[in-house]
Amino acid sequence: RMGKSSAIKKVAEHLKNHPEAKVIFMVGAGISTSCGIPDFRSPKTGLYHNLAKLNLPFAEAVFDVDYFDKNPQPFYTLARELYPGNFKPSKFHYLMKLFENNKRLQRIYTQNIDTLEHQALISGSYVIEAHGSFSKNHCIKCSKEYPLEKFKSKLKIDETHSEDSGSTDFDYARCDDCGGLVKPAIVFFGEGLPSRFFDTWEEDQEWFLKEKEKNHLVLIAGTSLTVYPFASLPEEVPPEVRRALINQELVGDFKAFPREEDIIIHGDVDDAAQKLAAELGWLTDLELLAAG
Ligand code: OAD
Ligand code: ZN
Repeated sequence: RMGKSSAIKKVAEHLKNHPEAKVIFMVGAGISTSCGIPDFRSPKTGLYHNLAKLNLPFAEAVFDVDYFDKNPQPFYTLARELYPGNFKPSKFHYLMKLFENNKRLQRIYTQNIDTLEHQALISGSYVIEAHGSFSKNHCIKCSKEYPLEKFKSKLKIDETHSEDSGSTDFDYARCDDCGGLVKPAIVFFGEGLPSRFFDTWEEDQEWFLKEKEKNHLVLIAGTSLTVYPFASLPEEVPPEVRRALINQELVGDFKAFPREEDIIIHGDVDDAAQKLAAELGWLTDLELLAAG
């Protein structure tokens, strides 16, 4: 097994040896933990571990439409806590931005709803928000759209401070037409992913095959690869396309069906971002972006 720094060098060498190679990123909550946003499944620090205070029958009920319909309190509480605006992108987000700046970015498939890719100024055409985002709200009964500003004021989002996260002093957002509860366009369990996710992945798979000789690369980071269909992306990467994983733990297809050419970087995503940027000659740029 390769050590961490030689694995990072391997990624850098791949990109240097194949100057036309571009990268598709597939990312999850682990790229935002350094921003102060907890991930879901890490023991002790993960959200699902810390949802006990919300009195849920099971942790994932917080993203369950039927449960939300009966009791919106837990999701609304979580939404106030996670609402975008209070967080800054991580070094890893800025590394992805540098891939765009250097014309080495093909796509970012993200499971995150924190919109930090957007806040890192990565162009929207590259970013697939597989699990939706807070950018729109709809009634769960009649689907009528509900204005963003009104949602924020009902839930007293702008009045949320870290000290009062977990506070229950807010109103529910209800549809003006039918009184149904209003839910941000985040993909809950049992709901379909946006069609753009499937359409773009189909295009990108064809792109791999069309441009075989360019040796494109897939970089997966900060995800437990447990939620489908997103978790099946890595196994759908054509066998001749090289995959790399940057994560605290070995996950998903890298564990179940490892490929000989896989590159595994065990450890922290920001630390890896820093080292990879150094290898690629992008360190000053990374530090400038991160200094904001
Ligand atoms: P998870 O919490 O399931 O997994 C996060 C992964 O990142 C774990 O493998 C951690 O070990 C790793 N990790 C955390 N911090 C890291 C760091 N600083 N450096 C390296 N690795 C780190 O999060 P996701 O895989 O994103 O759904 O979860 C997938 C979906 O499950 C989410 O999108 C969410 C949830 O239900 C919705 O929000 C709809
Ligand atoms: Zn309605």
